Amino acid sequence: MNKLIQPDVAQAFTLPSHYYFDPSFEGLEKKIFAGTWQIVGHVRQLPNPGSFFTTNLVGEPLLIVRNAGGEIKGFYNVCKHRAGPPAEGCGERKVFRCGYHGWTYSLDGELLNTPECEGVEDFRQQEFGLTPVRTEQWAGLIFVNLNPKAEPLLQTLDQLPQGMTRFQFEKMQLHERRTYEMQLEDLYRQLSRGISPAERASRTESRAGLRQLHHAAFSQLFVAIQPHPRP
Ligand code: FES
Repeated sequence: MNKLIQPDVAQAFTLPSHYYFDPSFEGLEKKIFAGTWQIVGHVRQLPNPGSFFTTNLVGEPLLIVRNAGGEIKGFYNVCKHRAGPPAEGCGERKVFRCGYHGWTYSLDGELLNTPECEGVEDFRQQEFGLTPVRTEQWAGLIFVNLNPKAEPLLQTLDQLPQGMTRFQFEKMQLHERRTYEMQLEDLYRQLSRGISPAERASRTESRAGLRQLHHAAFSQLFVAIQPHPRP
């Protein structure tokens, strides 16, 4: 029997360490995370038309925005001129202006302005909008799927929403988000000891010089989504 699939939990053991640093597994991870629905945020991060945040999914920079009509849209955060980021961080904008040469995009990703490109022959501005990514929501959570042909989110979740009704996810609010940077060896040690990265990081938060963790799946953690209105 393949020991990595052990149905008896009493005989379970942690993943071999090379799973965390072998580049071939990184490629496999990317394939999985890029082709499935992944949570990137919460609708309360986008309270108003023009609210946006940027994020990263398996190395792909993303821009998530609420458009003027109130819809949540997702785009690759990559300018169609020379790949600069049209948006950084989070906040509210009427348009997104790339910091490099000023190309400007609407909240729906359309290219509006191309300074110093006027008069270029055969340049059709309407063909250079931001590239959209599939974005759907369930219970206040925003999901992205980088596979444009992926089946709809609710189809993927199948019976999960029904089984989760008692938790009333739709009433929950984003309370806080923290980003931890850790060494890969630290992460493996914590997992081996059965301590979650979030728990371990909270113990070492004040220690200076926490270095970069090369495991994207753990680089950003939602630490608390609470069902209480903020005071
Ligand atoms: S890279 Fe964005 S305007 Fe040039």
